[in-house]
Amino acid sequence: MLTDYEKSCNEQLEKLRDKEDVVILAIESSCDETACAVTRGREVLSSVVASQIEIHKRYGGVVPEIASRNHVMAVSEITSQALGQAGLQAKDVDCVAVTYGAGLLGALLVGVSFAKAFAYALGKPLMAVNHIRGHIAANYIAKPDLEPPYICLIASGGHTAVVKVSGLEDITLLGSTQDDACGEAFDKVARVLGLEYPGGPEIQRLAREGKPSVHLPTPLKDSGGYDFSYSGLKTAVINYVHSKEQRGEEYSKADVACSFQEKAVGIMTDAAVRAALDNNLKTIVIAGGVASNERLREMMRLKAEKYGFNVCYPPVRLCTDNAAMIAEEAFNLIKTGAEAAPATLDASATVKITDVTAV
Ligand SMILES: Nc1ncnc2c1ncn2[C@@H]1O[C@H](COP(=O)(O)OP(=O)(O)OP(=O)(O)O)[C@@H](O)[C@H]1O
Ligand SMILES: [Mg+2]
Repeated sequence: MLTDYEKSCNEQLEKLRDKEDVVILAIESSCDETACAVTRGREVLSSVVASQIEIHKRYGGVVPEIASRNHVMAVSEITSQALGQAGLQAKDVDCVAVTYGAGLLGALLVGVSFAKAFAYALGKPLMAVNHIRGHIAANYIAKPDLEPPYICLIASGGHTAVVKVSGLEDITLLGSTQDDACGEAFDKVARVLGLEYPGGPEIQRLAREGKPSVHLPTPLKDSGGYDFSYSGLKTAVINYVHSKEQRGEEYSKADVACSFQEKAVGIMTDAAVRAALDNNLKTIVIAGGVASNERLREMMRLKAEKYGFNVCYPPVRLCTDNAAMIAEEAFNLIKTGAEAAPATLDASATVKITDVTAV
């Protein structure tokens, strides 16, 4: 049985469905960024991200309990800032959106509880957004005329997958990592090279000074599918570094970083290109934190020229976690007739890429 509030939310969403200028306030707190954004249709009016990277750096990775506590301290202030920068008041918002998963449970709960209360107090609908679909939706900000069908390569800290996007919410999984995510492998390799967290940007920086001279394996080389494996690649790098150090031999950290990056992004590029060719699709989109990698973008552009594809990726600030992408995904949900989140909405540490929204 729906409550009066839930019924009113679904009636409001029905009216918003064909509006192109829906004002959405979105909250994102799935990991170590507390973020709030206000969008109008595909336009980002404000996007505030309070990163906790400096706090977690000293531990070499995100400490979940510390992340949750910092979200609690930041979420209200970040929301005021986002509204202020957009030049709007809470009453101007048509709909509230929040990441309900995937991510760290305690961190997600902060955003979910805050957004539920905020939406209820305003009497406005709340959309529950799948974080991974949010990463894909960042591309609609970069390219508002982007339209499915296309192939999307998702490469983030916790996910690596190739999907076919046939409609705004019609997403099919073609392949995914069998073990570590690509971003996770970047972070672990960076750590063994003595670089700071998060490792991706550090590896990218060091790789510019190196050559791809270290031989590394190509996981799942002959599988012909779209699955990935990063655990073996990561272990090969760790073994190389440890054996050099144990034997007291000189080696170039820049060459290791360059060789790893070349292999890590090459594997993903090949899978995405194969998926586009096999599915006869002309557009490849990349999403997630690793989509900000300059070598991945370059490889994709070169393949695009070779095969006549269009390539799309968000600006760097929208590749890593932010709330503007969550608002864009909520806009997609409204357009495709999704229902408002129930008042009982809970956070979920794991969600599948195929999960449209929370039930
Ligand atoms: N330039 C870069 N090159 C490679 N990796 C990068 C770069 N910039 C960021 N990354 C990686 O991106 C990851 C963070 O991305 P993102 O914020 O999407 O992950 P997450 O939110 O932790 O995970 P998920 O989205 O799967 O829940 C980190 O692993 C980081 O090292
Ligand atoms: Mg993310």
